[in-house]
Amino acid sequence: MSKPSLLILPGDGIGPEVMAEVRKIINWYGAKRGLKFDVSEDLVGGCAYDKHGTPLHDDTMAKAQEVDAVLLGAVGGPKYDNLDFSLKPERGLLRLRKEMDLYANLRPAQCFDALADFSSLKKDVVAGLDIMIVRELTSGVYFGEPRGIFKEGNERVGINTQRYTESEIARVARSAFELAMRRNRKLCSMEKANVMESGVLWREVVTEVGKEYPDVALSHMYADAGAMQLTRWPKQFDVIVTDNLFGDLLSDLAAMLTGSLGMLPSASLGAPMANGRPKALYEPVHGSAPDIAGQGKANPIACILSFAMALRYSFDNGSEADRLETAVNTVLAKGLRTADLLGEAGVAPVSTAQMGDAVVEALNESL
Ligand code: IPM
Ligand code: MG
Repeated sequence: MSKPSLLILPGDGIGPEVMAEVRKIINWYGAKRGLKFDVSEDLVGGCAYDKHGTPLHDDTMAKAQEVDAVLLGAVGGPKYDNLDFSLKPERGLLRLRKEMDLYANLRPAQCFDALADFSSLKKDVVAGLDIMIVRELTSGVYFGEPRGIFKEGNERVGINTQRYTESEIARVARSAFELAMRRNRKLCSMEKANVMESGVLWREVVTEVGKEYPDVALSHMYADAGAMQLTRWPKQFDVIVTDNLFGDLLSDLAAMLTGSLGMLPSASLGAPMANGRPKALYEPVHGSAPDIAGQGKANPIACILSFAMALRYSFDNGSEADRLETAVNTVLAKGLRTADLLGEAGVAPVSTAQMGDAVVEALNESL
């Protein structure tokens, strides 16, 4: 049987540094668990623009369509702020999401025991937190037409369009219900049905799909109230499903509940390919952090845990994903902290590479 294929797109800023640590983990699985991958690497974002004049070369796009999974670091940086919209690093990522049709973006917000003190919320509010946000990723106001800045009489008008079809809502709802079935069978759908027609339709369609899942307790919340409830008592939630823009906001909020954006992975999944695996892209929730890039300060854990999600969702290997997540927990319990996680007196930060090495060490100990 041929090896499963991985396309690595480290991207910009801290992307290459954190991805170097994921490479160590991938090599470990090849050497110690017989899990060998056919790994290739390419450019996305600002670095692709520098080389090719576009944030995603067509050849890279074609490769991404063929592999079993894409692992992405981060894109963007101040150097590219003044580029035309169509050339910005972020467009590379958005093109991957859109053309691979990665409609279900899974963003777990999990509080690691050793880090419960890092949250800006009280410890008992976040300790043990484990929720999953399912964000619709290929439609809504991110892609709706018309869009642009137009002239209207004497002034300019900026336009974006929130647009959802029934089938777009139904398929992401189904992904969320399926996940809820494997978790605690609770799903909360968030929109603004009180002010937006697209929200009214969202609520109707999610309710209809819910009839196929009588074992899942479905609730609905306006997204603004959802933000409030997420900060008040996040443990009331299990799975949350929401649209592209609300999901962008709510997932950053949920991520920060856990203490650091440097800890959280994500999976973006599409329809199954011929081999049964979903089209998939895995990336940390954090960005390219240009302020600390190249200094060995970045936390590689979000990117490492993104690979754990790949093991679980693309390679159907939940037990090895568990092993990797446990290794991360072990390292944190030992007290290792990258600079983003400092706060305890007398703790000196470890570098990106030291954190990666420590996870490899914990994997060795797990054997
Ligand atoms: C995210 C990011 C992206 C988004 C940017 C980089 C385009 O914020 O993945 O949450 O807005 O979706
Ligand atoms: Mg975001």
